[in-house]
Amino acid sequence: MDDLYKKNILQSDALRQYILETSVYTREHEKLKQLREATIEHYGKGPSCKMVPPEEGQFIYMLVKLTNAKKTLEVGVFTGYSLLSTALALPEEGQVTAIDLDGEAYEKVGLQFIREAGVEHKINFIQSDAMSALNEILNKGEQFDFVFVDADKPNYIKYHEILVKLVKVGGVIGYDNTLWFGSVALPDEEVPEYLLVNRNALKELNNYLASDTRFEISQVPIGDGLTLCRRVE
Ligand SMILES: C[S@@+](CC[C@H](N)C(=O)[O-])C[C@H]1O[C@@H](n2cnc3c(N)ncnc32)[C@H](O)[C@@H]1O
Repeated sequence: MDDLYKKNILQSDALRQYILETSVYTREHEKLKQLREATIEHYGKGPSCKMVPPEEGQFIYMLVKLTNAKKTLEVGVFTGYSLLSTALALPEEGQVTAIDLDGEAYEKVGLQFIREAGVEHKINFIQSDAMSALNEILNKGEQFDFVFVDADKPNYIKYHEILVKLVKVGGVIGYDNTLWFGSVALPDEEVPEYLLVNRNALKELNNYLASDTRFEISQVPIGDGLTLCRRVE
């Protein structure tokens, strides 16, 4: 199985492949498929290929539909697989504000498929450090129905404190990678060095979210772990 697809917590590769072949690839939009394949061609299947796995893209699409979101925010775009999943799910008048420090992967790889899918008009791409972009959006008084965060893990708690104000009551924030290759459940001494910094940050986030009464939460074991937080106050 492709290395990229190891980034999931299912214990059986065969089960994962079954899900992909039965329910995901069969329904994957042609332009998402092309974007996914072009991303793998450019970045390989190792750690530099940072897109969400396709079953998570499909789940994000479903979440946008289920929440009836019209205005969404994404932090961490890379080539745009989760972004295109979101844009396809939004209604014609919907808007997704997408922030990434680096515009190269998006512009060189993903954008052409987003254009061909006919959804570029729904996307407002901001090339910026997330913290400054989020503060700027906050100053404008904007609010969102759905937010997907998939960027620098050690800053998630700081982003959360801004996102609390940016997501509407009843709206949802999704934090990606909250199981970090399963390492959150390992004793410290068994965690490989290269996973440690993000693993510690994500463990701290998981505890933080678990005690945040402003949100209802659900840690969904899809992909590398996606924690959904629904704002209740
Ligand atoms: C895991 S990738 C996002 C994958 C994307 N969701 C997808 O489905 O392809 C993380 C992205 O976060 C961006 N990033 C990292 N630190 C950032 C920061 N401080 N501000 C904004 N973007 C950042 C990186 O440039 C990278 O493109």
